[in-house]
Amino acid sequence: MTKLAIIGGTGLDEIPDLEITHREVCHTPFGEPSAALTHGTISGHEVVFLPRHGASHMIPPHLVNYRANLWSLRHVGIQTILGVAAVGGISADMVPGRIVIPDQIIDYTFGREHTIFDNDLSHVVHIDFTKPYCEELRQALLEAGRLSSVNPVAGGTYGATQGPRLETAAEILRMERDGCDIVGMTGMPEAALAREFNLCYASCAVISNWAAGKVDSTINMREIEMNLIEGMEQVKSLLVELLGQDAR
Ligand code: HPA
Repeated sequence: MTKLAIIGGTGLDEIPDLEITHREVCHTPFGEPSAALTHGTISGHEVVFLPRHGASHMIPPHLVNYRANLWSLRHVGIQTILGVAAVGGISADMVPGRIVIPDQIIDYTFGREHTIFDNDLSHVVHIDFTKPYCEELRQALLEAGRLSSVNPVAGGTYGATQGPRLETAAEILRMERDGCDIVGMTGMPEAALAREFNLCYASCAVISNWAAGKVDSTINMREIEMNLIEGMEQVKSLLVELLGQDAR
């Protein structure tokens, strides 16, 4: 695997285990990325880290400049990206606290800058997106999960919603009928843009809550935070194992 970039989501605005070497500010043709890129090492392996919602978590999902984020990572030579994201659990096995490596996406977002191919209208580009995630990185993550005893759910359909509000119970029922297993607000257009940039991209989703209407109670931010703290510990174990795979 080439040098890994990690796009951190809610609960992962920084990685304590990251030994920072330097930060790099990038300006892109698509505007400003969410933050400066943080270069460093985890257990001796070089990585680049970018907090999706900004260094102080100020950028909501629908205002993230996904194009600039991916452009900046590619600009510094990154070819492999792990997007970490908090999600709600829809299907019965998507229990809060668990980690999922999704394999499919349904996109319900709207009005986001979702392509880099809207400038040169002399030719139309249609990327293949049958399998929206990089299978090589997915398999490496699943192997890391086995070795680190994190035991992630080995697939599932990520339903990407617009946010920033959470969903209604009826919206979640519709998503369930559509075949969604988890719901989050940042999976798209990030995955599609990564494909347009020809990057190997996979997602590591941390289930922070039951999706709307799945339990009697309303969605509680305190519970989300507690599950994210626990989930992010698992993400860190997974990362250490993933990065170590190259060394073996
Ligand atoms: N819905 C959408 N996005 C989310 C959720 C949810 O329930 N939990 C964490 N991100």
